[in-house]
Amino acid sequence: MRVGILTGGGDCPGLNAVIRAVVRKGTMFYGDSILGFEEGWRGVLENRFQLLDLDSTPGIIHRGGTILRTSRTNPFKDPQGLERVKATFTVNHLDALIAIGGDDTLGVALKLNQAGLKLVGVPKTIDNDLAGTDVCFGFDTAVNIATEAVDRLHTTAEAHNRIIVVEVMGRDAGWIATYSGIAGGADVVLIPEKPINLDQVCDLLQRRHGRGKYFSIVVVAEGAQLADQIGQTTQGTQVDEFGHARLGGIGGRLAAEIEKRTGFETRMVNLGHIQRGGTPTAFDRVLATRYGVQAIDMVHQGEFGRMASLQGQKLVSVPLEDALGKNRKVDPEIYDIASVFFG
Ligand code: F6P
Repeated sequence: MRVGILTGGGDCPGLNAVIRAVVRKGTMFYGDSILGFEEGWRGVLENRFQLLDLDSTPGIIHRGGTILRTSRTNPFKDPQGLERVKATFTVNHLDALIAIGGDDTLGVALKLNQAGLKLVGVPKTIDNDLAGTDVCFGFDTAVNIATEAVDRLHTTAEAHNRIIVVEVMGRDAGWIATYSGIAGGADVVLIPEKPINLDQVCDLLQRRHGRGKYFSIVVVAEGAQLADQIGQTTQGTQVDEFGHARLGGIGGRLAAEIEKRTGFETRMVNLGHIQRGGTPTAFDRVLATRYGVQAIDMVHQGEFGRMASLQGQKLVSVPLEDALGKNRKVDPEIYDIASVFFG
């Protein structure tokens, strides 16, 4: 078969491991030709690809980013988009396309599938909030990076009797904040699922200081909102092709309020894209490899309009519809565990 592959949306560690697995199993077991489209859907619109084989994909399992590069291009923004995508399928005799991405990229895959093209999805988001699967690759790496940052910030916060607010990724769900908060021993964790009550946050910090602890770490997800805030904290008004604003700044607002209300000296660190860069953990390399093998198997089993999915310990496939439009929120039980250590 002739199988296309692309990576769309924000990058995350493990994308190359998926590509490597698709190429390995596709070429060695099925005799496929694999066409790697560049920069997400932009490459499909522009018919820009590289042929991927064992010679072009060695030594990439440990590399972050994506050898195909990525973009947030939405082909349906172009009135001719569908026809252009169809033309790319036709001219290259493409039998199927594997789209590795989150809600936006897979939403496009579903629409294309409904238009008669053969699409398979692989779930990807650092935020770990895609429905239809238990875990997305890249999340574990991000949690490890954020945890290391929290560990490091502990020592400097302690040395200076300071509060340090750490802003981490998490647009609509606070998975990274909750996991790195538990692992790093954060004193307060704030997530988009729960509006921030400033009085409560300051009470917790004061209670902790009342116990003779003169420093604290607060982890906040970028998408978290103050209780009286309308909308998330954004950096400007621009939106991407899928309508998402650039988030960022809640950590700074929070730090200023905490300092004002408690009188404790406070600093803020935004980890930003550091969380998405660099080497994937072993867990993410294995998970991404499993997703890649599952995706190419799905192509050969004719499971189109579906997504590779981790359910418990097993790789299965689910309809793309199951993943889309519904955010997977942080499990309240896990957040309750984090909160045992607050204040
Ligand atoms: O959707 C994943 C994500 O990492 C979000 O957590 C974050 O808000 C966004 O992407 C950042 O996007 P960009 O890389 O375009 O700045």
